[in-house]
Amino acid sequence: MEILSKTLEVGIKGKAYPIHLGSSLGLKVRSVIQKILDSGRKVCVVTDENLKVSQASFINQCFDGCSICVLPAGETTKSMHYLGKTFDFFCDQGLGRNSVLIAFGGGVIGDLTGYAAASYLRGIDFYQVPTTLLSMVDSSVGGKTGINISGGKNLVGAFYQPEAVFIDTDLLSTLPPREFSAGMAEVVKTGLLGNKELFDKLVLMGKLSDKHPDLVSVITACCVLKSTVVSEDEREMAHSGGRALLNLGHTFGHAIENVTGYGAYLHGEAVAIGLVMAKNLSIRCGYSLEGLSESLVNLLQLYQLPLSLKEPLPLESLMKSMFSDKKTRNGKLRFVLLRNIGDAITKEGIDEKMIEEIWRAGGAK
Ligand SMILES: NC(=O)c1ccc[n+]([C@@H]2O[C@H](COP(=O)([O-])OP(=O)(O)OC[C@H]3O[C@@H](n4cnc5c(N)ncnc54)[C@H](O)[C@@H]3O)[C@@H](O)[C@H]2O)c1
Repeated sequence: MEILSKTLEVGIKGKAYPIHLGSSLGLKVRSVIQKILDSGRKVCVVTDENLKVSQASFINQCFDGCSICVLPAGETTKSMHYLGKTFDFFCDQGLGRNSVLIAFGGGVIGDLTGYAAASYLRGIDFYQVPTTLLSMVDSSVGGKTGINISGGKNLVGAFYQPEAVFIDTDLLSTLPPREFSAGMAEVVKTGLLGNKELFDKLVLMGKLSDKHPDLVSVITACCVLKSTVVSEDEREMAHSGGRALLNLGHTFGHAIENVTGYGAYLHGEAVAIGLVMAKNLSIRCGYSLEGLSESLVNLLQLYQLPLSLKEPLPLESLMKSMFSDKKTRNGKLRFVLLRNIGDAITKEGIDEKMIEEIWRAGGAK
């Protein structure tokens, strides 16, 4: 089978790695795994119950000779409980310091496996093979790994970069449409942060799908933006701007996920509402966003993404959750605001009353 792929590089200092991107990448993945197995190292694939069924042929083609740890699907798997189960599996399989993990799944599997790789035996190698649009355009790149705890989303984790990322767009053929749409929220976020050319492309190209001719170029644009940003500020330490800009809409979105117990909203759906709120907050802070506001809403609607809370949620809980989010600095909330397409800033010290107004407009009570 012809392999159609390109390779991008994530230029993190001391840990550069490739992103192989295209279709029909199974043979490429297999050849990398075969080399590892031939060198006597063990390989363990971490995946979820849905993928075990829907991507059985990819699993058979690529992961023969590997042990396979199958976890339940869904956000609640990104937890201490399942992290512990995963470590137990590694021990049972006799994984050692030179063993290798493969994260084969969406952002949940990628984040959890990455963190397991960072902490098992104080760190072993891992590869990302993302299977959702969201994980292809965002979570598999950049090395943020972690799990949720009751206090908040992604509050326990590590910056830990993979050895390589394999983005095979053929894997999207089995992804449910609601999950594809959720991934589009992060694509739209990237469009807003990126540049007018990318955002206009999203507006003009019609509805993206796994068969759309622009799919690879859109994923490429997202990976290029993300890898550029994380290469410059891997650990989100920049005093202003930097990697924190990738959190556009996420301070609101994470609070929605946390307050609803990580089930009612997919991550991307919560981010979509968060993008609308971030846009509204930007306007309240004096940035006019002429024209952009309408295009953003139209784009999110095109993918049936929510623009406001489906059911009212208590304002007090949402505000409390925001304050326990790791995006606070010295106890102050930090927001990403848009001044225009491709022109975002981080801002602290916004009046809490204004934030509450934005929540109420979005359906909080
Ligand atoms: N690390 C980062 O930088 C980063 C960035 C953005 C989001 N995230 C995290 O990513 C997570 C969300 O990831 P997600 O949206 O990929 O969700 P997910 O991992 O839960 O996957 C979504 C669902 O689709 C199923 N699925 C996955 N691939 C499939 C395929 N090819 N065919 C059929 N079914 C498939 C899964 O079983 C699951 O039910 C959140 O926890 C979020 O915090 C992390």
